[in-house]
Amino acid sequence: MDARETFAGGVAVITGAGAGIGAGLARHAARLGMTVVLADIDAGAIAALRDELSERGAHAVDILCDVRDPAAVEELAHRTRADVGPVRLLVNNAGVEQFGYLWDTPVANWQRVVDINVSGVFHGIRAFLPSMIEDGTPAWVWNLSSIGGVAVVPLQAPYIMSKHAVLALTECLALEVQLAGHDHIHVQAVLPGAVTSNIFESAGGVTDGDVDAAESQRLAMLDIKAAAMDPLAAAEVVFEQAAQGRFYLLTQPEYVGNAMAERAEVLTSQRAPMLRTKPRFDPAQH
Ligand SMILES: NC(=O)c1ccc[n+]([C@@H]2O[C@H](COP(=O)([O-])OP(=O)(O)OC[C@H]3O[C@@H](n4cnc5c(N)ncnc54)[C@H](O)[C@@H]3O)[C@@H](O)[C@H]2O)c1
Repeated sequence: MDARETFAGGVAVITGAGAGIGAGLARHAARLGMTVVLADIDAGAIAALRDELSERGAHAVDILCDVRDPAAVEELAHRTRADVGPVRLLVNNAGVEQFGYLWDTPVANWQRVVDINVSGVFHGIRAFLPSMIEDGTPAWVWNLSSIGGVAVVPLQAPYIMSKHAVLALTECLALEVQLAGHDHIHVQAVLPGAVTSNIFESAGGVTDGDVDAAESQRLAMLDIKAAAMDPLAAAEVVFEQAAQGRFYLLTQPEYVGNAMAERAEVLTSQRAPMLRTKPRFDPAQH
């Protein structure tokens, strides 16, 4: 089955749908014939996207939701079910970046990454999974990890830690769904490589210590963005891989796949992490 056959007519809930990858997934879901629930803390962004999708004849609903707040995510699940319908696709996508040496990182910035990137995903699972299980119809859960979920990168430790955590959580969840015999629930991990978005602009930095190191890392990542993939093209790839039943959904299979192979090699050879001599992402090749 292709993505249209798999997803058309269903309801997709996407957190962090106001920008970047989430907005790309929402646009493509609408294009495939899904009803889209746009959840974000940026009310203006999701209202504008709702209008854009509605003008094109799609059914889209915007719901203000901070994934850090378990009650808000419960409310999102409740309103979706009551006003829109049963969920075929839940995308736990909202996420933020953080730059700087770990020892310079303000506690509030560390907490922001953990609360949004890790707890936000957990809140989504707790709020939505029970009714998706109970419905008994095929349903999909995508959690946004990253190429950073298999790589290790200095000056981005909180973010990288959060993406390793989301990947592990997603792998465990897939096993739990199998263990409990809920064969109609498909759990999948999304590992984007480099996709155009606002994530580096909205990233936290440091206020004390080596501020320059944090800012140079942000600039290096902004350079990568110049050659990054369009979010709509990324969404198309992810939806097709999901419909094929893959577990790891990779926006750029070769680039992300190389990082996965490198991680496997580090672990099997049990060698210590080493600084790279050349950047992993070569914009010239993309
Ligand atoms: N862009 C990339 O290249 C890339 C690569 C790997 C992984 N990812 C992952 O993809 C996901 C989306 O990132 P993006 O690059 O599109 O970022 P983005 O900054 O463009 O979009 C993130 C969206 O999440 C929203 N958001 C932030 N905090 C929120 C909260 N507490 N509750 C609800 N919504 C909130 C923002 O308002 C924004 O609309 C993240 O989980 C990120 O880690 C992105």
